[in-house]
Amino acid sequence: MGFVFTAKVKASSVYIVLMSLQHRIIFGNSQHMSELERGSVQLMVTSPPYPMIAMWDDQFCSSDPKIAEFWQKLNLDGGEETVRQIYDAMHRNLAKVWAETFRVLCNGGMAAINIGDATRRINDRFQLFPNHSRIIEECEKIGFITLPYILWKKPTTKPSYKGKGAFLGSGFLPPNAYVTLDCEFILLFRKGTLRHFKTKDPERYESKFTKEQRDEWFSQIWSLKGTRQTVDDLERRTAAYPAEVAERLIRMFSVRGDLVLDPFLGSGTTTKVAIESGRSSIGYELDPKLLPAIRARLEETQIALKTEIMSQVKIISRSGEC
Ligand SMILES: C[S@@+](CC[C@H](N)C(=O)[O-])C[C@H]1O[C@@H](n2cnc3c(N)ncnc32)[C@H](O)[C@@H]1O
Repeated sequence: MGFVFTAKVKASSVYIVLMSLQHRIIFGNSQHMSELERGSVQLMVTSPPYPMIAMWDDQFCSSDPKIAEFWQKLNLDGGEETVRQIYDAMHRNLAKVWAETFRVLCNGGMAAINIGDATRRINDRFQLFPNHSRIIEECEKIGFITLPYILWKKPTTKPSYKGKGAFLGSGFLPPNAYVTLDCEFILLFRKGTLRHFKTKDPERYESKFTKEQRDEWFSQIWSLKGTRQTVDDLERRTAAYPAEVAERLIRMFSVRGDLVLDPFLGSGTTTKVAIESGRSSIGYELDPKLLPAIRARLEETQIALKTEIMSQVKIISRSGEC
């Protein structure tokens, strides 16, 4: 996979590159990334908690007590305006991380954000929460330049009726059924102008992709054919993305030796792929309970690479934060 198996790269140079990289996993809140200097990161790849998806409600509430208050208010007033306040507050909460990412990215640095829209029935009203467009708005306010995005077509294809998983008996009768959300977005942004490299920059040339990879990766719809479509318990709990999503993005938008940031690390997929792709990495995660899962993932990587990598991975817990 990735860099390690890239043709033309000699085994010894792979070893040297792998050993010169650094990986940091920080258990703490990525709304403040004090460990990173302004302009020190070349690529951010991430998938945040999705606003208005029930599995992330508690985390948003503990991250911002105002959101918890709005939910309590909603129980009392049931008001549409309160739903809006919850949704807005969740996006303002994520936007603190987008702003901090903007600070740490270099000029020409890229940000790739995997996000799904949400559908939800509240007060017996079924509606769409278009998270992707809210994130584009927030990122543009911060100063990011929006680039054409990718639609990741997921394997779930069951249509829904009144927000439920099946059409039931009325599924063939217009007009009350809903279109199924079977795509997620991979939003792409740049900070500033294009990155510049010296002529024949060796790291850039060693990071080259093939024509087949270019044709597939730079097309707008990814169905990730041939990728494992089943999801194990850890992936379900952390809403992990497949390694192939991270691998494509890292190889499309960074070069060997770059520093890749994931401010919502989850089970550590981005770190694993950065190691395999010859990039350095830094990941932030709020939930310390994910440490054993992250470690297990990295140990698997070490076995697959047949190279000792754990000595290059620093795991840091900010005191008092988690
Ligand atoms: C959708 S999951 C990421 C899954 C990840 N892409 C993977 O493959 O495992 C989002 C993660 O962000 C973490 N998180 C949420 N808010 C955070 C914050 N402000 N700082 C750091 N981590 C945060 C959550 O605990 C959760 O593990």
